[in-house]
Amino acid sequence: MPPSIIKRLEHLDDLPPMPNTMHMVLQEMESISSNSKSLEKIIMQDPMLAAKILKIANSPLYGVAGQVNSISHAVTILGFDEVKNLIIGLSLIQAFGEGGNFDGFSIRDLWLHSIGVATASMLIAKRAGNGFSPDECFTMGLLHDIGRFILCKAFAEEVKKILKLQEEKRQPLSVVEEEQGLSHSEVGAYLAQRWKLSEQTTSVVRYHHRPRSAGEDEPCCAVVYLADQLCHKLSIGWSSKWLPKGIMLPKSLSLKKDDVQELAREIKSKKDDLAESWASVMGG
Ligand SMILES: [Fe+2]
Ligand SMILES: [Fe+2]
Repeated sequence: MPPSIIKRLEHLDDLPPMPNTMHMVLQEMESISSNSKSLEKIIMQDPMLAAKILKIANSPLYGVAGQVNSISHAVTILGFDEVKNLIIGLSLIQAFGEGGNFDGFSIRDLWLHSIGVATASMLIAKRAGNGFSPDECFTMGLLHDIGRFILCKAFAEEVKKILKLQEEKRQPLSVVEEEQGLSHSEVGAYLAQRWKLSEQTTSVVRYHHRPRSAGEDEPCCAVVYLADQLCHKLSIGWSSKWLPKGIMLPKSLSLKKDDVQELAREIKSKKDDLAESWASVMGG
């Protein structure tokens, strides 16, 4: 990343801190005494978050519409991990805001893309086995494009220019960003480090477009790399134009082509429910 961009990032007043709720949940995950009661306590400190969790728990996504009437009930029905993932997703959306639109590019669609990639990463992790934690892969998928939210927030003029150039050059957005010295992967990795996220998560944010550069973190970067491609192919949320036609299946995942087709079917079957359920908690 050019030093001038690092300097700008260092002096940004509105670079969001890690949402407090997310911080508490991540700490809780590391604690051996973590349990559903501690999770409920965190949620209850933020009534708006609690309301959104109930709304999404009762959405078509979980197939129990209308049945969840309290946070403890949500934890019982959806499970600890699912509720934890919801908290992280919702608190990130709260922190970065839901607005901010550019021609042909909306923050809302970028959130849907992120949630799609999180869900797909979790499904890939489950299928690949290989010691992946589906749960951690969900969080990594959710955060993979976090740099784009910062670019939209703090570098709006540059983003407008990059989007225009993308149309002119007919190249994927990430390629044009790199050419312009404003890679969302690098900007995102800067934030991940500032938030003191795990090294693996920082690697995923930095290398999700080129997992083979990630050294020992290549496998988890490959999970998100594949999830990202599948979501673009299936047009879940924002989808970059002019991407290569086929799907590149990273060798480090030990998956077969059939597995990828199965995964694509599985993700596609969730597409409408994902969009409807998350749109219901995203205002605007
Ligand atoms: Fe990306
Ligand atoms: Fe992405």
